[in-house]
Amino acid sequence: MSLLDQIDKNRIPSHVAVIMDGNGRWAKSQGKERIFGHANGVESVRSCLKAATKAGVQYLTLYAFSTENWNRPKEEVDALMNLLVDTIIGELDELNKNEVRLHAIGDIQSLPDHCQTELARGMMATSQNNTINLILALSYSARWEILNAVKSIVASGLSADGITADTISQHLTTKSFPDPELLIRTSGEHRISNFLLWQIAYAELYFTDTLWPDFREEDFYAALLNYQSRERRFGKTSDQIQNIPVEGDSNQPLRLV
Ligand code: FPP
Repeated sequence: MSLLDQIDKNRIPSHVAVIMDGNGRWAKSQGKERIFGHANGVESVRSCLKAATKAGVQYLTLYAFSTENWNRPKEEVDALMNLLVDTIIGELDELNKNEVRLHAIGDIQSLPDHCQTELARGMMATSQNNTINLILALSYSARWEILNAVKSIVASGLSADGITADTISQHLTTKSFPDPELLIRTSGEHRISNFLLWQIAYAELYFTDTLWPDFREEDFYAALLNYQSRERRFGKTSDQIQNIPVEGDSNQPLRLV
């Protein structure tokens, strides 16, 4: 029996974010160059998206290229950009067939022109799809994002008293998406690495030793099952949580007081 059958369909996180890590180590273990690991990581992206779609996740954010990744050797950066472009072009039909809507967050203007063009084309071509939103974080870092949010809030002329947590959320690149309830990181590393720092304030964190190129559907379901085994308290006591009436979907976000 697949782990998918054991998942409570009424308690699926609406947004799952993933730090895809371990491509380099996976390639090294095969005696290959790092880019071989990235190339094999594309199959894991497919599996992860498939699993998220089957489970009913509505938003899947993948950390595909961080601001810090620009410091990698030029050949690796170029290869990653080409892989991104080839993947978007090669997967477009499949994305449309499965009603996947593509989005990108990050400093998109810093990407090479051909990447920006294909990304824009991919986002436009999938803009009517509404089964699942696939959000690629590219040239992204949370500090970059928060810094830009602060700058744009200041530029908007809002007074300090007029700024709320919601103002900040509305100035982030993720303003159209709910916050992730679950963050997965592969490869045994237990770090957040400048990813969605504001948005994961209440997310459950799930770390797996599996290297990204080995990540498959069952690994995603294992993360969902682990998520469902946890009690989400949002700073409240367990008694308070038990007394909160939850209408319909028990995964409704609880409002902080
Ligand atoms: C981290 O592994 C992974 C990346 C920096 C890139 C992720 C890219 C892909 C999975 C391929 C393409 C993705 C899309 C969306 C088309 P690492 O190189 O840091 O591995 P290491 O920690 O073992 O060195």
